[in-house]
Amino acid sequence: TQVSLIGAPTDIGAGHRGASMGPEALRVAGIGQALTQRGIRVVDRGNLGGPMNPWTGPVDGYRHLAEVVAWNRSVMEAVAAELGQGHLPVLLGGDHCLAIGSITAVARHCQATKKRLLVLWLDAHADYNTSSVTPSGNIHGMPVACLCGLGPPELTELGGTAPAISPDCVRQIGIRSVDTGEKKLVRDAGLDIYDMRYIDEIGMKRVMEEALSDIDENTHVHVSFDVDFLDPEIAPGVGTTIPGGPNYREAQLCMEMIADRGGLGSLDIMELNPAFDEHNKTAVLAVDLVESLFGKSTLMRD
Ligand code: ARG
Ligand code: MN
Ligand code: MN
Ligand code: MN
Repeated sequence: TQVSLIGAPTDIGAGHRGASMGPEALRVAGIGQALTQRGIRVVDRGNLGGPMNPWTGPVDGYRHLAEVVAWNRSVMEAVAAELGQGHLPVLLGGDHCLAIGSITAVARHCQATKKRLLVLWLDAHADYNTSSVTPSGNIHGMPVACLCGLGPPELTELGGTAPAISPDCVRQIGIRSVDTGEKKLVRDAGLDIYDMRYIDEIGMKRVMEEALSDIDENTHVHVSFDVDFLDPEIAPGVGTTIPGGPNYREAQLCMEMIADRGGLGSLDIMELNPAFDEHNKTAVLAVDLVESLFGKSTLMRD
C-alpha cells in the first residue's frame, strides 16, 4: 500500500498559535524518507489550504467555528480521496480539531467497505468537550465529542449524518487531563479510557494487549496521535503540555504493539507545535515513533 502524506497547516482549533507549522517540521524531521527507508511507497500530497486564523475569541462556546468547518471539510475530502484509491492517509497536523474531518472520512470508508473501525486516540486529553462545558472554546478540545454526535451540526454532520462514529469504537490511551464537565460526558458516553493511572498500575504492555484485543482481519485501525500524549520531558513541542505522560520506552512499546497487531489503515499526527520545540526534537521523536508504528523494531529476533 501507498502512504499519502497530507499537510494541514493550521492552528485554527487551538489555544496557542504554531501548530500550523507542524507539517513542515515533520517533513524537515524526515517523515517521508523514514517511511521510504522501511520499504513503503510514500507520496507527499503537499499542503491543504484554508482560511487564515483570525485569532478571535469564542462565540457561543466555539472559537473560529466557521474556519474550523472549512478546514475539516477539506481534510475530509483529501482523506476520503486517498482511502478511495486504496492508500493509507497520514494527516500531518495541524491541531487536533482536524481529526473530525479525518475520522469522518475514515468512518464513511469503513461503512462503504464493511470494515469495522477502531480508533486509537493517543492523547493527554479526552477531547470530549462541548460548547456548554468547554473551559476555552477551543475546538481541538472537542473532536471526539463531535465525532460521537455531540457538537454543532456543521461538524457532527460533516459526513452527511450524525454521529460519524459510535463511542464504543474509540480507545483512548495516555489520558491525564479531563475537564470537570467533560468527565461526566466521557462517562455518560462510556468511552474506553486507558488513563495514565491505569498505565502506571498495569503497565503499557498489558494496556496495549487490552486495547488491541479484539482487532481482527476485518478491522480498520485508525491512530489519532496527539503529540501531547508524550511526556513533555521528551516532547516539549506542543501547545498544551501535561506532565506525567508516557516516557520514550513506553511510547515505543505502544507503537510497536500496534504495528505487531496489524490493521493500521490511517493515521493523524497532530498538535506538533514547532514554536515550543527545541531544535525540532519533538518532530524528530514523532517520526521515530511513526517508524515503529510502521513496523520498525529493535527486537533482535526480527
Ligand atoms: N481540555 C482543554 C480544552 O478543551 C484542552 C484541550 C486540548 N486538546 C488538544 N487537542 N490538545 O480546552
Ligand atoms: Mn492533547
Ligand atoms: Mn466498532
Ligand atoms: Mn488532542
